[in-house]
Amino acid sequence: MYKQEAFKENLIDWFDENQRQMPWRETSDPYAIWVSEVMLQQTQVDTVRDYYKRFMDRFPHIMSLAEAQEDEVLKYWEGLGYYSRARNFHIAAKEVVNHYGGVIPKDPQQFKALKGVGPYTQAAVLSIAFDTPLPTVDGNVFRVWSRLNNDRLDTALPQTRKTYELQLKPYVKMHSGTFNQAMMELGALICTPKAPLCLFCPVQVHCEAYHEGTVLELPVKTKKMKKASLDMDVYIIQGDSGDYLIEKRQERLLNGMWQFPLFNKSDGIDTVKKRLGNSFKIERENIYRLKHQFTHMTWNLKVHIATLSNDDLKQLPNQYRLMSLDEKQALTFPVPMTKIFNAIQ
Ligand code: ADE
Repeated sequence: MYKQEAFKENLIDWFDENQRQMPWRETSDPYAIWVSEVMLQQTQVDTVRDYYKRFMDRFPHIMSLAEAQEDEVLKYWEGLGYYSRARNFHIAAKEVVNHYGGVIPKDPQQFKALKGVGPYTQAAVLSIAFDTPLPTVDGNVFRVWSRLNNDRLDTALPQTRKTYELQLKPYVKMHSGTFNQAMMELGALICTPKAPLCLFCPVQVHCEAYHEGTVLELPVKTKKMKKASLDMDVYIIQGDSGDYLIEKRQERLLNGMWQFPLFNKSDGIDTVKKRLGNSFKIERENIYRLKHQFTHMTWNLKVHIATLSNDDLKQLPNQYRLMSLDEKQALTFPVPMTKIFNAIQ
């Protein structure tokens, strides 16, 4: 055992008193907990609240999610980012319905085999819903645990997660869901990255980094490579009725979401004409500029007004369509496209 029983007791007593109210903390429905944990990966609690409520109103059980079209699921995720989470979760819901009669498997191996379920989601959902003894290791826990032990392992390395999971195992033999949530809550409320509230910390006496004065040096995390950045041109093209030409993304990033025709700057006008038609013509250049940061990529977008003949508009491949203003509500756009749309309106 790394720390004494008193550590777990102090932590859980604090959590019982200080945890934030969250709708998914008032249920033991594994589906509802799963929804919350998928949303909470990479996203703050306060952002998730509204999305969670809307999602649960529309897809209250796994069957309703499994039966939905992907487009609609993405619509309920619009703005949350990391859309592959939603696509994978939707696939996993269908797997649960097809292979397990709609009952989420309690068996850790079976649950982990579902689409998109990694070690974190497996541990979070099963421990919170069923008290399965698995420790959750997310960004909060990396920070809290490395500080408690004054540990300088590189948390960017996969082995470090394995090491921490092994070290945390003894603490999740009982009340695993509570222990896991208490660790994450401590990381969110007290043991924060830049200005931790050590003086209010319920486990300060157990914290080696506090005693050594190394709290702000931890966790150790090697820097990722510089983000790639892409310069791209966006074309606003309207048909006779004022409808906008849009395109469904085929790329891995933001797959299945809609955008105004988008080209790499390096493609050049010939490529644009080849794809959209020879009548393509730029009418006004650079009406708007936008920089958008994704996790691993930055988009530098320049927006232009262009025209295309009716004949060319009719001959475009399947992923293109014209969209009226009324239809915008029903389709899912990545955040930068919504910003462009709002700017040109
Ligand atoms: N972050 C992700 N899931 C969480 C949970 N269940 N409690 C607190 N923080 C979290």
